[in-house]
Amino acid sequence: MKLEFMSKSQNEAFARIVVASFASQLDPTIEELADVKTAVSEAVTNAIIHGYDGREGIVRIECSINDHTIEIVVEDEGKGIEDIEMARQPLYTSKPELERSGMGFTVMETFMDELEIESQKDSGTKIRMVKRFGRYED
Ligand SMILES: Nc1ncnc2c1ncn2[C@@H]1O[C@H](COP(=O)(O)OP(=O)(O)O)[C@@H](O)[C@H]1O
Ligand SMILES: [Mg+2]
Repeated sequence: MKLEFMSKSQNEAFARIVVASFASQLDPTIEELADVKTAVSEAVTNAIIHGYDGREGIVRIECSINDHTIEIVVEDEGKGIEDIEMARQPLYTSKPELERSGMGFTVMETFMDELEIESQKDSGTKIRMVKRFGRYED
């Protein structure tokens, strides 16, 4: 599944719902679905607020399903992250003036099974997240 939308905050809820609808074919629990929604919401909000910094741009999402696993890639062509290790630290935010909590990456890491961040200054950021559903079944 591929999705493209403008970097407007109104689209964050849209993106979250589309990914949740796509994920629902794996028959997730309500909690698993809530985890995916929260992680997507954090990644998309980051692309809009940090990546494009209020400017207009395109946010891309790609999702794929394999067995009981969903892979979600959220990509922007915004300003990029200079120091990924620092950005991943709990409570680190480059926008304390917006009362950001600095917990976005920590939330993605906690709610998903895998989190990879690829980024290049001035060319954009790509977040890849994986979650396995029904871990207690088999
Ligand atoms: N898509 C992105 N483009 C550029 N910078 C980003 C992006 N996502 C995250 N960052 C950087 O990583 C920092 C940490 O992100 P996060 O943990 O979500 O905290 P917060 O969004 O509250 O600042 C951000 O403050 C920002 O500097
Ligand atoms: Mg954030």
